[in-house]
Amino acid sequence: MTQAHHNDDVPQPSADDLESLAELVDQATSEVQKLDDDSRTLALNLKRAVEAFHKAGLTRIVRRLKDDPRGKELLFELADDPLVYALFVMHGIIRADTATRVTQVLETVRPYLHSHGGDVELVEVRGDTVYVRLHGACNGCSQSAVTLREGVEEAILGQITEIKQVEVLPNEPSPALITPDAIGVSSGSDWVKGPSLDATPPGTLLRFDTDVASVLIVNFDNRLSAFRNTCIHKGLPLDSGLFDVDAGILTCPWHGFCYDAHTGECITAPEAQLESFPLRVEDGQIWVRPTKQQS
Ligand code: FES
Repeated sequence: MTQAHHNDDVPQPSADDLESLAELVDQATSEVQKLDDDSRTLALNLKRAVEAFHKAGLTRIVRRLKDDPRGKELLFELADDPLVYALFVMHGIIRADTATRVTQVLETVRPYLHSHGGDVELVEVRGDTVYVRLHGACNGCSQSAVTLREGVEEAILGQITEIKQVEVLPNEPSPALITPDAIGVSSGSDWVKGPSLDATPPGTLLRFDTDVASVLIVNFDNRLSAFRNTCIHKGLPLDSGLFDVDAGILTCPWHGFCYDAHTGECITAPEAQLESFPLRVEDGQIWVRPTKQQS
């Protein structure tokens, strides 16, 4: 092998920290992408050949260290160094932790999500569950949002075998949400006094709790409805869901089931329905007749 000579035109690493070196690799990689097809193929072949050479050498070093008790200890210490860890992960010598691999999987689907106006954020990995938040076009219940969500789930479940489920966490509460404390509500025995009409303008998604049930008041386009505040999917509360006031669709914050905001009909599972309660308005006051949930 010939001795390498430094060329003044080629940037040389000025630091040996992981971030600077990774940046150098990224810069060089993006420069290579700008080359014409033949040059790019040559450059990528060279990169692969050098990586294969390094991987083979590193694998031998690691095997020898593993065979020796003192070497094994040293190997564990080395793997605590972020630079060595990244090198081992890059060459498939050790497996990255689950969160890192989930992040890598999400990076592969992100360009597709972006091209459809959506995005995904990894919140945490706990046990065999990944918790994510979805943004933009991934939210809601249009066919494309459902497809994007499923794409995220499939990518994670298909590539990270120890993950068994993907949970979508709610985003920030709908700005239309009003807390019961803010308006003051009181309970009666049968019909229950709810909020005033003034406190429930169009676009309102309002929860109030009575002795017998948690109630969700929805005002879609000046049409008022009262529902049990319970999603039919897993029985979780709906009040911090997303209310699309233009489409009249309410989206459960937990796993994205969608409902017609006026009728409560479930769009995701069309044979299902939110439980609605009788509602009447008297002298600018809303009254609701909730019932106890059947066990
Ligand atoms: S509880 Fe799962 S979608 Fe509502």
